Amino acid sequence: MSMDNDILEVLLTREEIKGICERLGEQITKDYEGKKLLLVSVLRGAVVFMADIMREIKLPCEIDFMSISSYKGASSTGVVQFKKDLDINPEGYDILIVEDILDTGLSLKYIVEILKTKNANSVKICTFLDKPENRKADITADYIGATVPNAFVVGYGLDYNEKYRNLPYLGVLKPEIYTK
Ligand code: IMP
Ligand code: MG
Repeated sequence: MSMDNDILEVLLTREEIKGICERLGEQITKDYEGKKLLLVSVLRGAVVFMADIMREIKLPCEIDFMSISSYKGASSTGVVQFKKDLDINPEGYDILIVEDILDTGLSLKYIVEILKTKNANSVKICTFLDKPENRKADITADYIGATVPNAFVVGYGLDYNEKYRNLPYLGVLKPEIYTK
């Protein structure tokens, strides 16, 4: 059955997402001119956004990946598990963390704390989505693609139990999918 049937509402179309990536890419290109930029993406939700945003940044840059997990199903466990560290030593780099969504903020807080111990020149955050209503940690992003309401969203890399990541748009998942 089609994944589209599980979507209550489309929040961002492919075209709108493209516009968001272009706008953020242009801003980042201006801000990081002359810097030693390292894009750090958080696996796995942010890979789709990473692939798009890196091509909108018109500067030399390097990419790396970290992996943590904090989510089980549709609500945060609040417990963050560390799974994979960077391969590149980020000392002296200007790190820009590329995230899919800033929700409670517990995952990103954890990642920022780790990266701050590594003698990078700077550590900033670019998140595709911001869900400010659900914030628990004291953290804000430097670049935000779009602000979303406190609903469970899927697509464009974001999953529910590892499904829907390949939807090309962002949608609100029907609550009956995760309550049944
Ligand atoms: P935080 O630690 O609560 O900020 O959670 C961040 C992570 O939770 C994200 O990187 C996502 O993987 C996941 N997450 C939070 N909200 C959603 C959502 O609405 N849909 C899918 N995943 C989400
Ligand atoms: Mg994630």
